[in-house]
Amino acid sequence: SERTLVLVKPDGVGRGLVGEVISRIERKGLKLVALELRHVDRALAEQHYAEHDGKPFFNDLLEFITSGPVVAAVVEGPRAIAAFRQIAGGTDPVEKAAPGSIRGDYGLEVQYNLVHGSDSAESAGREIKLWFPDL
Ligand code: GTP
Ligand code: MG
Repeated sequence: SERTLVLVKPDGVGRGLVGEVISRIERKGLKLVALELRHVDRALAEQHYAEHDGKPFFNDLLEFITSGPVVAAVVEGPRAIAAFRQIAGGTDPVEKAAPGSIRGDYGLEVQYNLVHGSDSAESAGREIKLWFPDL
């Protein structure tokens, strides 16, 4: 069994899609091991998205992720990292995310793609430590 960090981003929280995302995680058979509404400051945002530092969209990404509360969760299960990426759908909600995925069903723009999920075991370890240091 494996753990992944999931975020419902400010667009998902603002649109009232927290329950929908959690419901899909549960229906997939994954388990919640931590769940919290969080206000993200610039420092946490920069650390979370450090891999994108220097990219043209980096500042917009930080502005967006700090623009309102997020719901942060640690999700556990067999192949949880890939399983959540599957139910989230690809990064671009129209070009890459299939209908039936969270982004495919609810998203239109790449910046406003509703959820985050760790992309590897290494990222998951780093992100869980960053968001939930006491876990
Ligand atoms: P996360 O789960 O949020 O990390 O998304 P991802 O792993 O599917 O994508 P990636 O890590 O490559 O990019 C992180 C986030 O940056 C994406 O979810 C988008 O919100 C945003 N992003 C990626 N590419 C672009 C882009 O070309 N333009 C803009 N405005 N945002 C982008
Ligand atoms: Mg990513």
